[in-house]
Amino acid sequence: MTALRAGELVGFPTETVYGLGADATNAAAVARVFALKGRPADHPLIVHLAGIESLSWWAATVPPVALALARQFWPGPLTLIVPKAAHVLALVTGGQDSVGLRVPAHPVAQRLLTAFGGGIAAPSANRYGRLSPTRADHVRDEFGAALGALLDGGEAQLGLESTIVACLGDTVRLLRPGVITRSQIEAVAGPLSAGGAVPRASGDRAKHYAPQTPLELLPTAALEARAAALAGPDHRLAVLAMRPPRVALPEVTWIDAGDRPDDYGHSLYNHLRSLDRGGFVRILVETPPDTESWAAVRDRLQRASAATT
Ligand code: TXA
Ligand code: MG
Repeated sequence: MTALRAGELVGFPTETVYGLGADATNAAAVARVFALKGRPADHPLIVHLAGIESLSWWAATVPPVALALARQFWPGPLTLIVPKAAHVLALVTGGQDSVGLRVPAHPVAQRLLTAFGGGIAAPSANRYGRLSPTRADHVRDEFGAALGALLDGGEAQLGLESTIVACLGDTVRLLRPGVITRSQIEAVAGPLSAGGAVPRASGDRAKHYAPQTPLELLPTAALEARAAALAGPDHRLAVLAMRPPRVALPEVTWIDAGDRPDDYGHSLYNHLRSLDRGGFVRILVETPPDTESWAAVRDRLQRASAATT
């Protein structure tokens, strides 16, 4: 890919969300990713690879458990944190001695990575702290002219960022829940270590993945009453729920996103993006069940509401 070789940035689709990519061995290009996103320098980037063969070039050592997870889930929505090889730029890893690696499954990402031949350092293609993009026009809206190229791969199939698993020392930890669940990871890796002193865990700042409209999480039974109490002619209100409303609520825009975690996750950022443009005073969100299949959605919603509640 000529743009990447020339040190330019490329917006590209993956099955999770769109990425903002740079040649991972080009320090100036990687620095532009941080500048464009407004991302703090100590917040590491994931290096995207065409296939599992390159894992050992980027890692100082490949823990057997990391290899087993890569064999099971790559290409796919799993990022592995492993000890970094000496040549991996400190800029990419935020100065840490580990590196995040992922082989995306999206055919357009696969073609780009195969043609380029190297690693592509890419965060989600959104400004720091904002919602991840699930469509090419989201990336165009946010970064348009600053990109060397923008590849349109249609709407991201999964719509939520990859599951992140750290395989460091003797421990295996889940740093960010995603579509690949904890049990799926444990089926390969055995029981995971509890959280704790993980260096710079994913999204360790509470407010992340957030719309600009205040977002409030509520139990299902509280939705109608809270909506009725807050809504008014000058206070248009949005509700993102897993069911239809039980009473008529004028001045309330009610989105029933359904009660299936995959469909809900697929459209979550899209819904929040359009609600963000709707001039609402607040978005009320029904808290999803505390079950494993909802873990990724719950995680993103809790972060999105962190600044509000
Ligand atoms: O699905 C995804 O993972 C998307 C697509 C584009 O691949 N990428 C993505 O990147 O979500 P980003 O930068 O928005 O989130 C990656 C997270 C960050 O929170 C970062 O802190 C964490 O991964 N991360 C990367 N390398 C790490 C490392 N060495 N140790 C701990 N966390 C790391
Ligand atoms: Mg991100």
